[in-house]
Amino acid sequence: MKANVYHTPVLLGEVIEFLVPGRGKSYIDATVGGGGHTNALLKRGARVLAIDRDQAAIDEVRKELETGNWKLETNESLHLVRGNFADIGKIAIENGFDAVDGVIFDLGVSSHQLETAERGFSFSKGGPLDMRMDQTLPIRAWDIVNNFEERRLNEIFQTFGQEKFSRRIASSICSARQIRPIEKTDELAKIIDDSVPRGVRGNFKKNINTATKVFQAIRIVVNSELLNLEEALPQTVNLLKSHGRLAIISFHSLEDSLVKRFLKGETRLRILTAKPIGPKSSEIETNPRSRSAKLRIAERI
Ligand SMILES: C[S@@+](CC[C@H](N)C(=O)[O-])C[C@H]1O[C@@H](n2cnc3c(N)ncnc32)[C@H](O)[C@@H]1O
Repeated sequence: MKANVYHTPVLLGEVIEFLVPGRGKSYIDATVGGGGHTNALLKRGARVLAIDRDQAAIDEVRKELETGNWKLETNESLHLVRGNFADIGKIAIENGFDAVDGVIFDLGVSSHQLETAERGFSFSKGGPLDMRMDQTLPIRAWDIVNNFEERRLNEIFQTFGQEKFSRRIASSICSARQIRPIEKTDELAKIIDDSVPRGVRGNFKKNINTATKVFQAIRIVVNSELLNLEEALPQTVNLLKSHGRLAIISFHSLEDSLVKRFLKGETRLRILTAKPIGPKSSEIETNPRSRSAKLRIAERI
């Protein structure tokens, strides 16, 4: 990521192709981040309700507007709301977006969140153990790492990280924190790395760090990520007009399975992507973070 880029939107062309934005149409971007998808919708003349739970994302979009980088057709073109997409139904109704042509969820964290050491998402940066997407949330990664029982840690690493060395890692964390609290992301990453067998340490295929899965698991719990998504999806279908489209980009298998199950079981939707769409090799080359993205699209009947 270039230092000045908040986030590079993933699968942008594909999302736009399926959502077919245009003048007179309305969309909800449930995860505005740096606004890549939102701005592409606005540029095509659509009205957008853009939501994010992170104040930094809201500030970033405001900055784009204030500096004139983004042009709005009218003051009504963009509604920017700080909120949790678990409340998407209420937010949409409050803002007059209760019958829309499309909704996009681009799940996971933004590059900005990942690259900002103080946010505590990255194991390669010595930041505090935070990981809250919404800085007002009561529980930080620190509380989980330093206070949760060993049994619970093991369960979290297994369930949300699918980490096969979960037991060893949970045990090492509990031993380390008896000496003093674990404060920093890189400290935690080292404890994780030291507790797995030598052969799997730090050099996983595709440059995946040993700590990736455990960090993912903690992040999911801190932000209630799967619960929020489960709450949001049925509400979202209520908001779609007939032929309105739902586009969801997920970045790990737990999210993608939840989305797939939901789309299959929702009788009001017709699935347009039999298999999820992934990035082209040219996109992965310019934006390696896109490599695990999976886009699923469905249409309201
Ligand atoms: C991958 S980024 C989105 C990037 C965006 N599409 C772009 O082009 O810049 C994901 C964003 O979703 C936000 N987010 C995650 N869970 C959320 C939730 N439950 N409610 C609202 N926003 C959420 C994160 O704060 C983050 O900014």
